[in-house]
Amino acid sequence: MSNLKAAITGVQGYVPDYILTNDELSTMVDTNDEWIVSRTGIKERRVLKGEGKGTSVMGVEVVNGLLKKTDTDPLEVDLIICATVTPDHVFPATANLIAATTGLDNAFNFDIGAACSGFIYALTTGALYIESGKYKKVIVVGADKMSSIVDYTDRTTCIIFGDGAGAVMLEPTTEEFGIIDSIHKSDGHGAEFLQMKAGGSKHPATETTVKNREHFAYQDGKTVFKFAVINMADYAEKVMKRNDLSGSDITYLVPHQANKRIVDATAKRMGIEDSKVMMNIQRYGNTTAATIPLLLWDYEKKLKKGDNLILAAFGGGFTWGAIYLKWAYDPKN
Ligand SMILES: CC(C)(COP(=O)(O)OP(=O)(O)OC[C@H]1O[C@@H](n2cnc3c(N)ncnc32)[C@H](O)[C@@H]1OP(=O)(O)O)[C@@H](O)C(=O)NCCC(=O)NCCS
Repeated sequence: MSNLKAAITGVQGYVPDYILTNDELSTMVDTNDEWIVSRTGIKERRVLKGEGKGTSVMGVEVVNGLLKKTDTDPLEVDLIICATVTPDHVFPATANLIAATTGLDNAFNFDIGAACSGFIYALTTGALYIESGKYKKVIVVGADKMSSIVDYTDRTTCIIFGDGAGAVMLEPTTEEFGIIDSIHKSDGHGAEFLQMKAGGSKHPATETTVKNREHFAYQDGKTVFKFAVINMADYAEKVMKRNDLSGSDITYLVPHQANKRIVDATAKRMGIEDSKVMMNIQRYGNTTAATIPLLLWDYEKKLKKGDNLILAAFGGGFTWGAIYLKWAYDPKN
């Protein structure tokens, strides 16, 4: 192994302008603001409106913003990885479309599909390319247009999800900053509890699959809830233990924003107080692969060089994991 670490040297987020409030949802399905807030913590979420606008539109926004913010020449970027379950097309990869529009003409690009764990899987993958010494600038994007696969007649799912994107730049450092450790897991036995039933090679689109609303996200909420709490906390604890960290060493827990109750239960199990838990679910809902980079973007000004962060996620697959990283820069103006 080289002594290189992959440090995050910039972060950028983007959410579409349109705000879908709980009150508006209450005009679409039998629900209300009080129920949604008390059961999920969500007040509003964003929706990308406009004919022909896919996830890559949001990916382009964050990559352009990131290039500008980090003063990076697009031709210097070696690799872009996009975590998403709502790609513009089954193929080509959304990362490829983002790269073409942002002028990353020397990069190679691919997508990672690990649902709500997509960003942490992609971050670990990107970090390994840097640690190998092979690449010097890797962009990791988490982006999802969940409104394109949410059934707005199903009150158990449409209240949760929203659209958004986030991205980080990874660069090598020989100092003890950046991605220090990561631990991931997948279990296909969980597939049936959180999935899109049709539209893949097993059940291609037919009149029947459309009629049966099988091209929307389906979830067994209670089962997902239970596994999310157990596994997010379990893996966050594992990565902390492996690095001799206790709750008091952690500056922030950066948890996937699935449901405020899932986040609260995870933090409690880990012994981390509320003030150390990043949270923005109230404004964006669950944006799937985008939640963690959107949190880093929202909290960027509060982060200092050397802060210890634990990133933790759980999602469809099932997929889950945790990353320990040391923040690599002080707030910039
Ligand atoms: C979906 C979820 C919010 C439902 O919350 P819950 O507390 O488990 O609620 P339940 O499913 O037990 O439903 C309780 C009641 O509320 C009703 N209900 C469900 N959605 C409702 C809504 N939007 N508004 C009002 N009532 C609703 C149910 O029909 C049920 O009524 P009943 O008791 O008469 O049958 C919750 O299970 C959850 O967040 N699961 C995890 C989802 C997730 O994180 N997915 C992304 C993967 S990372």
